[in-house]
Amino acid sequence: MSTQDPLAPDARSVSLPAGDGGGRTGTAIDGPAGDRTPAPATAGVPAAPTEPLAKRPSETSITMSQLMLPPDANPWGNVHGGTIMKLVDSAAGVVATRHCRTRVVTARIDEMSFLKPVFIGNVVTLKASVNDTGRTSLEVGVRVEAEDLTRGETWHVGSAYLVFVALDSEGRPTLVPPLHVETPDERRRQAEAAARRARRQQSRPLQQ
Ligand SMILES: CC(C)(COP(=O)(O)OP(=O)(O)OC[C@H]1O[C@@H](n2cnc3c(N)ncnc32)[C@H](O)[C@@H]1OP(=O)(O)O)[C@@H](O)C(=O)NCCC(=O)NCCS
Repeated sequence: MSTQDPLAPDARSVSLPAGDGGGRTGTAIDGPAGDRTPAPATAGVPAAPTEPLAKRPSETSITMSQLMLPPDANPWGNVHGGTIMKLVDSAAGVVATRHCRTRVVTARIDEMSFLKPVFIGNVVTLKASVNDTGRTSLEVGVRVEAEDLTRGETWHVGSAYLVFVALDSEGRPTLVPPLHVETPDERRRQAEAAARRARRQQSRPLQQ
């Protein structure tokens, strides 16, 4: 994964990991998740609806950098929390869409604390990846870092967890591909996301 040149005129753009051409619709995974590979359709007979193919977090994660400019900040040069939240939502939305390859909507953004300030002239970098999937929803985690370009210092600004719901062409929730975790970090993130999901389900407001 690489970040864009923050000083380039169009630094407000997304950096996608190499190796994903962007048009992939699914990757067969060996092991338990690979059991979900659909059977080939017989000529003339439509294939039965199948569960989407599993994906690894590394297939869909992104790193996105943006230079903070005066419109992003208050009169004292502090970057607005809302500016950072919008970047968080955008980065997570790209990851969720890459995972699902459908429309997605943000259903929830968990609370986010801003641990250290960000100022005009700093570069904000967001690292976003899928933590866990449900049936029609998925959690994306985003870590936000800032960099003082002249001093070469970086710091952790905050982290956020967002839930997206995949929608079909009619705007109804639709199945999301399962997540295939491999590394110890991916397993830990998935377990922590599952615990958050359980807590959210307890606190989710009643629907009208
Ligand atoms: C998100 C939305 C589609 C969910 O619709 P819904 O009828 O409540 O859907 P369901 O009850 O079938 O739930 C679908 C999934 O979303 C999850 N979900 C829904 N609302 C949620 C919330 N507030 N927090 C966390 N998860 C939520 C459910 O747990 C379920 O997950 P699962 O299938 O993985 O188990 C609907 O509430 C909506 O359109 N909200 C507005 C979204 C929006 O405009 N966002 C901002 C712009 S992108």
